Amino acid sequence: MLRLETERLILREFIYSDWRDVHEYSSDPEVVRFLEWGPNSREETVKFVEGALGCQREHPRMVYEFAVLTRPGIDPLSPPDRSKLIGACGLRFRDQLAEQAEIGYCYNRRFWRSGFATESGKALLRFGFHNLALHRMYATCDSNNQGSARVLENIGMRREGLSKKDKRIRGIWRDTLHFGILQDEWKSLNPLP
Ligand SMILES: CC(C)(COP(=O)(O)OP(=O)(O)OC[C@H]1O[C@@H](n2cnc3c(N)ncnc32)[C@H](O)[C@@H]1OP(=O)(O)O)[C@@H](O)C(=O)NCCC(=O)NCCS
Repeated sequence: MLRLETERLILREFIYSDWRDVHEYSSDPEVVRFLEWGPNSREETVKFVEGALGCQREHPRMVYEFAVLTRPGIDPLSPPDRSKLIGACGLRFRDQLAEQAEIGYCYNRRFWRSGFATESGKALLRFGFHNLALHRMYATCDSNNQGSARVLENIGMRREGLSKKDKRIRGIWRDTLHFGILQDEWKSLNPLP
């Protein structure tokens, strides 16, 4: 099982029993406010986790979906020896030959504004550029999703543009911001020790 580690977090592939923790945030209307999916029913959350498990068996691998967990002792409301699943992040290849992938992420509201999305986003870029040798990674977010735009800037992505009213979310046409980073740019921001 793939596993990435950061100072406070563990990113590992999903297991079936994760669905309960995922449902804690995927069913929260505030969490999905800027997203095209949700709030999820229990069945929709289980389907998401089953989809993530299905991706693990793909050849060639087109999608990497990681459960993001705090290391033991980080979440004050969990027993000190336990991890807590706080969200998910992942990358999706544009196509098999493109060497480009889009990243995405979503976190439980209880853990927002603690730097966790930035910390796991950096680990995701390292995985894409270092382990998968990607040429470019990119992301989009709703232009009103200030937190997400800030995460993308924090991890070193450049703002590349804005699409006007290109996504209809819960009946309203929304503007989308586009961000990207090339492997060379990432390397110059993250020189080898
Ligand atoms: C957007 C989201 C991922 C941010 O996660 P987070 O863990 O709070 O992010 P971080 O703690 O790493 O914060 C990064 C920066 O964004 C800022 N930020 C976070 N939420 C913010 C908000 N709602 N409004 C303005 N700024 C915000 C933080 O203060 C921090 O700023 P700094 O770098 O200047 O200190 C989280 O709110 C979330 O999961 N939202 C729901 C799902 C979603 O929108 N996903 C993205 C889809 S494109």
